[in-house]
Amino acid sequence: MHIHHLGEKNSVLNHFIAEIRDINVQKDRMRFRKNMERIGEIMSYELSKTLNYESRNVSTPLGEKASSFISNDIVICSILRAGLSLHHGLLNYFDGSDNCFISAYRHHHSETEFEIVVEYLASPSLEGKTVLLADPMLATGQSFLSVYDALKPMGKPKEVHLLSTIAAPEGIAYLEKNLPKDTHLWVAAIDERLNNKGYIIPGLGDAGDLAYGTK
Ligand code: URA
Repeated sequence: MHIHHLGEKNSVLNHFIAEIRDINVQKDRMRFRKNMERIGEIMSYELSKTLNYESRNVSTPLGEKASSFISNDIVICSILRAGLSLHHGLLNYFDGSDNCFISAYRHHHSETEFEIVVEYLASPSLEGKTVLLADPMLATGQSFLSVYDALKPMGKPKEVHLLSTIAAPEGIAYLEKNLPKDTHLWVAAIDERLNNKGYIIPGLGDAGDLAYGTK
């Protein structure tokens, strides 16, 4: 797996990440969603450097300029519900993309044991596409893997990019073991560890609840 760790010590990306972690700022749900969206935009910009471009002439009012346009067929896929704000950040930049939505939730057998249930999928064909799969929290890695498997009947993508705001080392290791070597993983921050309930420490809490108050 190609791992792209974007967090640098001093950058506006880390400023936004600091805000989404901060319990005092988290009270403002709109700011939480907006920051997640802005993180999605910055991640899009970094990812855009690895895409393919074609050159076309553009007419300006005063002349012509050879310019580059993204030539990948992009499908942005987000995992409901927490992926939605990140999704909008990606879509703001890759604005001609098709979109895919898939649900994945933890069905708990006990406080510490759960399985991932995928129930809803709305997706165009992914054959030959550049798929961006967004889930803000990469904890155990099981959601990403379940979703990756559930999308297989939609066709073989040209390339797959997973995007997460905060990742745990355990989740990264799990995906490295279980996903094809040519998969890209983009993470803004890598935290210390998971707790026994599968939450990222220090992380930020439950991203879906913080963004949408669904609990
Ligand atoms: N999902 C979240 O929202 N937070 C975590 O820490 C782990 C999974």
